[in-house]
Amino acid sequence: MTDTALPFPPSFLWGTATAAHQVEGYNTQNDWWAFEQRPGAIYHGHRSGRACDWWANAEQDFDLMAAMGHNSHRLSVEWSRIEPQEGRFDPEAIACYRAMLGGLRRRGIEPMVTLFHFSSPLWLARQGGWQNPAVVPLFRRFVRHTVQELGDLVRLWCTINEPNVYAALGHLFGEHPPGVKSVPAYFRALRLQLLAHAAAYRVIHALDGRAQVGLVKNVPIFEPAGRGAAIPARIVDHLFNEVTLRAVQDGRLSWPLSAVPVTHGALGDSIDFVGVNYYTRWLVGLRPGNRGLLHPRPGAECSDCGRGGTYGEIYPAGMRRVLARVARLGKPIYVTENGLPDADDDQRPCFLLTHLAEMHRAMAQGADVRGYYHWTFVDNFEWSEGWNLRFGLVALDPETQARTPRRSAELFSRIARQNAITPEMVQEFAPEAGEQVWRRA
Ligand code: FCB
Repeated sequence: MTDTALPFPPSFLWGTATAAHQVEGYNTQNDWWAFEQRPGAIYHGHRSGRACDWWANAEQDFDLMAAMGHNSHRLSVEWSRIEPQEGRFDPEAIACYRAMLGGLRRRGIEPMVTLFHFSSPLWLARQGGWQNPAVVPLFRRFVRHTVQELGDLVRLWCTINEPNVYAALGHLFGEHPPGVKSVPAYFRALRLQLLAHAAAYRVIHALDGRAQVGLVKNVPIFEPAGRGAAIPARIVDHLFNEVTLRAVQDGRLSWPLSAVPVTHGALGDSIDFVGVNYYTRWLVGLRPGNRGLLHPRPGAECSDCGRGGTYGEIYPAGMRRVLARVARLGKPIYVTENGLPDADDDQRPCFLLTHLAEMHRAMAQGADVRGYYHWTFVDNFEWSEGWNLRFGLVALDPETQARTPRRSAELFSRIARQNAITPEMVQEFAPEAGEQVWRRA
């Protein structure tokens, strides 16, 4: 046991992450808005509607972020606003994003911008979306335009958010648009996103040699649920995690991403950093459970429930394990998302402290982590969960748009300001975290 603070390196980035469709409101020209109108598609029939009202007024949340000492924020731009019709770019949308990015910068908040975070323009969806190979040159053109227009305000770009989650939820489980359930469609969507990532990486660097460009990968821990499940767990990990992490390293697409193994020159070495989204661990079993074969460890502490049951196990050690794994790619890392649904905020303070302590441990063991973005700033429209899951440091009443910081917002603010975890914070916010926070190695 020790009671000295856990300091983070100077200029470490602290902030939260958001996605355009989840916060902006009235994104009527994308496939998500259309999907929300389908009966039963969204829990309790919720709609994104005005969302967190960012398109009209993001500044109020930027003010709060600044007051809380955040020095960075990860947000995404909405393709359907920038290019509402194929080949027609909207200067007003660009002006609005320039105002947002400038507003962040003025407050000393470094923006990190994601170019694709789950929502596609309707015109693209109508021509097959991420099943149609035409998406690759279309995405490249959108990225070129966006980077030409916004590049002077952005140093950190994420090409695509969680390609595997996007492919799985929309094309394998049918819970997100396009609502398809097909194994080949999953792999097609994944392959095209990887190729689109590569095209985006190259075009951004052609425009701006100083830009830092990464891919955001959700990296869950998959473990066997029991004896006999070791091989299924390896297979799930390979298909969900390994093929993607490898592809951006060596450019190889092998089965099942490609019938015959091929190497794409543009995909090899196509990241300047890795964005890691870490949420939870899944046990892979032979008996169907939550989402088929995946379920949390029996008896584990879990966060709030979604419509299919628990959102996931709270497993802080997974943070260190995932960072150690990704560190082997030899690139800088940003934790681009980490968080939990916890409406009454009784788990979040402990979650924050234990996950950040595990991140600190991974860094002490060599992982080059440059920043941490909590998911998320203010409660938002959580895709097919609607407004049911509350991930915000700040609580939101979507009707009145009233914001109420949770206790965790104060804790996170102190961590960001002091660039450290201190014994006083642990004592005040979650003494039960102490043992895990101060544990050696
Ligand atoms: C991630 C998504 C993000 C949010 C969180 C809870 O998979 O990237 O938009 O929904 O989960």
